[in-house]
Amino acid sequence: MTSIAVIGPGAIGGTVAAWLAQNPDFAVTVCARTPLDDLQVETPAGPITARPIVLIDPAQAVPVDWVLVATKTYDVDSTKAWLDRLVVQGTRVAIIQNGVEHVRLFEHLVPAERLVPVIINLPAVRNAPGRIVQLRHGLIWAPAGEHGEALAALFGHSEIEAAAAPDFISRAWVKLCGNCSAIVPSLTLRAPGPVWSDDLADIIRGLAEECAAVGRAEGADIPQSVVEEAVEMARKLEEGSVAGSIHADRLAGQRMEIDARNGVIVRLGQKHAIPTPMNKLLVTLLAASGSPWVK
Ligand SMILES: NC(=O)c1ccc[n+]([C@@H]2O[C@H](COP(=O)([O-])OP(=O)(O)OC[C@H]3O[C@@H](n4cnc5c(N)ncnc54)[C@H](OP(=O)(O)O)[C@@H]3O)[C@@H](O)[C@H]2O)c1
Repeated sequence: MTSIAVIGPGAIGGTVAAWLAQNPDFAVTVCARTPLDDLQVETPAGPITARPIVLIDPAQAVPVDWVLVATKTYDVDSTKAWLDRLVVQGTRVAIIQNGVEHVRLFEHLVPAERLVPVIINLPAVRNAPGRIVQLRHGLIWAPAGEHGEALAALFGHSEIEAAAAPDFISRAWVKLCGNCSAIVPSLTLRAPGPVWSDDLADIIRGLAEECAAVGRAEGADIPQSVVEEAVEMARKLEEGSVAGSIHADRLAGQRMEIDARNGVIVRLGQKHAIPTPMNKLLVTLLAASGSPWVK
């Protein structure tokens, strides 16, 4: 029996935990902040349900083979109480979050050699505790190597496609090139498509160009087509559509992962002496908009 604890059973953690719990060889525990009875997920393959062990008190957690962390990036430090109880020699800790700094965010909490960064392409929405809609087929990538392959194997019996990718860094940065432009609708509070202009296209291209330049300096291979795809993706967003989770979070008055999406481009740009004026401007404006949730 493989023991797996999922910290943060929200849209992503709840979906992943529900899929893993379908495997009778896995003992799945969810470590929650808000109580929930069970997991019910509407997936593209049909509804799935799971009744994992649910803990809300870290004192009740015991060591496991795998920890999967699926909180928002700004909640990382609050997972310490869980990690202190769950992680022992041999425990592997997968970080399923957006961004490119999975290891940096957790290396003060878990020895770096146990950390497995994970990118997930799986749009999902949580409507209530334990009630989730998985909107499309899910894809997961971890870095090539023993940890990445072991992580991918966990999903062998699920409908989530998981692989260990030799070009993990590139994949993470390519995803960020698409994600970083969502700061525009987070500021304007509307989808860009209906108000599209050459100037708006230049701003979105600038955000993605800066991200690509910094990503390349970090070792990622990012074709130029990725920048144009980010522009095209933004142009196609129709009236009323939500451009990703930071836009959704702003509309809902919730905290946003701005640092993981755009602040990181500015910070790592400074490290490499690469100018990132567009990202810096929009991060600064969003902070100056009075949003108490910018982090
Ligand atoms: N949703 C998507 O479509 C999607 C797609 C790709 C990547 N991602 C990324 O995946 C990550 C997770 O996003 P999400 O959409 O799943 O967020 P979410 O729905 O807000 O879920 C986060 C969960 O973490 C819980 N949490 C926070 N701190 C905790 C703690 N200390 N102990 C236990 N639970 C804790 C929250 O508890 P509460 O129930 O109290 O809020 C919530 O259940 C983010 O980095 C996001 O960018 C999301």
